[in-house]
Amino acid sequence: MILAPSILAADLGRLAEELAAAERGGAGMVHVDVMDGHFVPNLTFGPAIVESVRRATRLPIDVHLMIENAEHRADAFMDAGAGWVSVHVEAVTHLQRMIAHLRGRGVKAGVAVNPATPLSSLEEILPELDYVLLMTVNPGYSGQEFLPAVVEKVRRLRASVQARGLDVKIEVDGGIAADNIATVVSAGAELVVAGAAVFHGGDAEAGARRLIEACG
Ligand code: DX5
Ligand code: ZN
Repeated sequence: MILAPSILAADLGRLAEELAAAERGGAGMVHVDVMDGHFVPNLTFGPAIVESVRRATRLPIDVHLMIENAEHRADAFMDAGAGWVSVHVEAVTHLQRMIAHLRGRGVKAGVAVNPATPLSSLEEILPELDYVLLMTVNPGYSGQEFLPAVVEKVRRLRASVQARGLDVKIEVDGGIAADNIATVVSAGAELVVAGAAVFHGGDAEAGARRLIEACG
């Protein structure tokens, strides 16, 4: 399991210290939530923040694009240092072209899926993906309540990936905390995003460590 703290919940005035603390606590990746105020109600980060993260840490940067027109915006995030990029199946019309473009640039390519969007929407694209991000909240904000129904979806996706002999990782994102992380990991999640549970206690090292220890 790789823990990916979401900087959406960090104290951005102390970004480098927050990232260093999360890394000491065992984080293996940094998650950057990009929101455009259209696909989701909230508005967050542009490529400049990814450049700042890139300067602050050597951990891989996972950019979650919750935006419309991702085809016109993704390159700037890759230029800024993203190593993993996910786009929403609900927001991209020409998904195969988008994924091929990401992979052509040498990054890990993922598709993110809202809680109410069925796994059948991934049927054709799945063999071309490096990862699938299953949302465990409706995207838009940090600090929302985990939706337990998605655990079964993680299991079904893992079964389908195995049955088809694919090498596609499963990432979960939203409301992850010490009381549910073991459940999502045993269901098949290998990449786990956490915002509030890492940063909101004011000690990101302890927050990250608590989540990793909760996995057993
Ligand atoms: C939600 C974002 C998540 C979120 C995670 O739209 O994609 O990455 O910030 O934050 P927590 O763990 O606080 O739900
Ligand atoms: Zn996210």
